Amino acid sequence: MTEFMRGRRLRTDERLRKMVQETHMDISDLVYPMFVMDGQNKVEEIPSMYGQNRYTADRMGEKLEQLLRAGVNKIMLFGIPDHKDEVGSQAYDENGIIQRAFREAKKNYPEMYLIGDVCMCEYTSHGHCGIIHNHDVDNDATLKYLAKIALSQVEAGADMVAPSDMMDGRIAAIRQCLDSQGHLNTPIMSYAVKFASAYYGPFRDAADSAPQFGNRRTYQMDYHNRREAVKEALADINEGADIIMVKPAMIYGDLIREIKDRTNVPMATYSVSGEYAMIKGAASLGLIDEDAIICETAIAAKRAGADIYITYFAEELAGFIKQGL
Ligand code: PBG
Ligand code: ZN
Repeated sequence: MTEFMRGRRLRTDERLRKMVQETHMDISDLVYPMFVMDGQNKVEEIPSMYGQNRYTADRMGEKLEQLLRAGVNKIMLFGIPDHKDEVGSQAYDENGIIQRAFREAKKNYPEMYLIGDVCMCEYTSHGHCGIIHNHDVDNDATLKYLAKIALSQVEAGADMVAPSDMMDGRIAAIRQCLDSQGHLNTPIMSYAVKFASAYYGPFRDAADSAPQFGNRRTYQMDYHNRREAVKEALADINEGADIIMVKPAMIYGDLIREIKDRTNVPMATYSVSGEYAMIKGAASLGLIDEDAIICETAIAAKRAGADIYITYFAEELAGFIKQGL
């Protein structure tokens, strides 16, 4: 009989360590978020997110081929239109950038599963995620626009829609609209637990979507709150959300776990632009081992309970997974 537990016994050999690993990540867990912009024959580097680009619809194929070669077959698309207005009309225009991008991707890369981010902030002149009345985002007036945007994306070729606006009732509104047009089997991945976060800063530069007045705290969640996160997740599931997302990922592992334990739907988490930028920034200064940090960060999200990992490092991670991450 031994007088203490020898935890090290299972760490003595690489093959043994692999055998007893509790958390695994598959390439099929990965979703790559990607920016498409109006215009022609352009690939632009995103200064706030080095290593990431914006593509015109005719050039996005280069990236899609690269992703498919790496084994990543799911993307989430964000549109960046040239023209913005009060109601974000380019978001639901059948010839808008996002619709053209979906048609292009669907036609040339049918192996790629296409997810549409449904929101208005990239398309509105004021940069808010909905319709403005009296200097505030009008929740109920926004719902019909979100439904229209979701429908136009699905009609253009989106396989799934992911509303990120944080209006109340939008899952029900979108579900009802899609169903009424016969899209009964198009899943909705809800950004249900989305915090008002400084971690979206680099994205807002990338997508030119920063609010022109005020901030998003009247619709995105307050990061002091945990029980409210459960409330938001349950409400969206009740309205028909098929997949629930927690966003950001890296510093919200407690909520990924909490919601995983209290619901029974697949869970996604989005490792956002600020997480990407912090890793890239520190690595470029030689302060951290970039590859090792990417792997450890990704596994932490899975260990917390995420089934789906949305990340700008999808391609890199696919490579690491092949090497036995
Ligand atoms: C649009 C949207 C945002 C992100 C995803 N969808 C920005 C925001 O809410 O301000 C953030 C993604 C990232 O930071 O990588 N509402
Ligand atoms: Zn938005």
